[in-house]
Amino acid sequence: MAGFSRDSQGRAWFGGCLITELLSHPELTTPAYWYDLDGIGAEADELVAALGPGGLVAYAVKANSAASILRVLKDRGVGADVVSGGELRLVLQVGVAPDRIVISGVAKATSEIDLAISAGIRAIQIESPEEVLRVAARAQALGTRARVALRINPSVAIDAHAHVATGHDKAKFGIPLANAAEAFALVDQSDSLDLVGISTHVGSTLMTPEPYVSAARVVCELAIARRAQGKAVEYLDFGGGFGIDYGRGKPERPAAFAQAARTLQREQNLLDHRLVVEPGRCLVGAYGALVCRVVQPKITAAARWLLIDGAMNDLLRPALYQAHHRIEAPDTPPAGEPFRIVGPVCESADDFGSHVVSKQAPSHVVIRDAGAYGYTMASNYNGRPLPQEVFLAGGAVLHHSPRPDADGWLRSRLDA
Ligand SMILES: Cc1ncc(COP(=O)(O)O)c(C=O)c1O
Repeated sequence: MAGFSRDSQGRAWFGGCLITELLSHPELTTPAYWYDLDGIGAEADELVAALGPGGLVAYAVKANSAASILRVLKDRGVGADVVSGGELRLVLQVGVAPDRIVISGVAKATSEIDLAISAGIRAIQIESPEEVLRVAARAQALGTRARVALRINPSVAIDAHAHVATGHDKAKFGIPLANAAEAFALVDQSDSLDLVGISTHVGSTLMTPEPYVSAARVVCELAIARRAQGKAVEYLDFGGGFGIDYGRGKPERPAAFAQAARTLQREQNLLDHRLVVEPGRCLVGAYGALVCRVVQPKITAAARWLLIDGAMNDLLRPALYQAHHRIEAPDTPPAGEPFRIVGPVCESADDFGSHVVSKQAPSHVVIRDAGAYGYTMASNYNGRPLPQEVFLAGGAVLHHSPRPDADGWLRSRLDA
């Protein structure tokens, strides 16, 4: 598995390509997301193998929705966890089989529920008793039955930024345990719903499987109770959240989470249920980089700024969750005094932090581990076009999006 690496001469590589060579490619510009499709494929292979033949890896499309990435994952037997009608239409068009797709989301629009029912996906993962009634009503209106799962909020707190912890009792996500009995009863009373799964997702950037297993145990207990009533569900979905190494601590490998899930399933005597996991970040995070040009240094009494052409509109994670990304120069290993690396957006939060890159200001920098929640959160803020995307495979550029279109933004605002 590749992603970013340095050779013995200190030159940086990404996806089997020498970064300095690609920087002179005539059709590539900056800021740009570069993706290593081979690395993504290898990461998926390892997780699919660890989960075993009866399991389903449902990739959380919100992490990165590029069709080239979705195709690599689909070809490895990976399904999809989507959170909108747009993501659902996308994965269907890419050719992901409906029975490998689940949809989550706390406030699904009626049109999204209708689309999910009509497409015949594995399940609509319902997040409140009120939503049970909404989905039942839509199935009835469409004259059909809907396959549903209940997403349970197990009241498990995780050690992560508040914005990525979703399984605690004050989160908007999932059905609190206290309301679970009511939700199960409403499903059972409906003539138009088939309860096929129980799911959970406690949050992101988990370093070890323990909190994951604690939440999964709650799902197992509910599944055992259903089976005892003669109403066994088909699958148990323990969610995603497997962390990656952002340079400040190595989490356990995704395979360790999958193995912990399988061990729990065996211990709980639930081998008659299918196992589903919903990882996003761990499949793509390390295999994306945001490549930026250095505009200029700015040395003041207070700080040594390095002003780059990438900004918070391209990569929101640092501004949104105070996330730290490693930043390196492509032609030299880290050296010299740190620079405070910031973008052009008119916000103090447009700040990628302090980094040792090189003695002199380099021509370019590479923001590492930007493959997840990067491009999918990008915006046109400050009238900036979306960054270019470049897909690498076999040590070469497979294809890339057109150069960013600044006129597109201008036209859209003139029409507004
Ligand atoms: C319901 C659900 N499943 C899966 C994920 C994927 O999480 P991660 O990318 O950390 O694996 C998320 C992320 O927010 C989520 O909300």
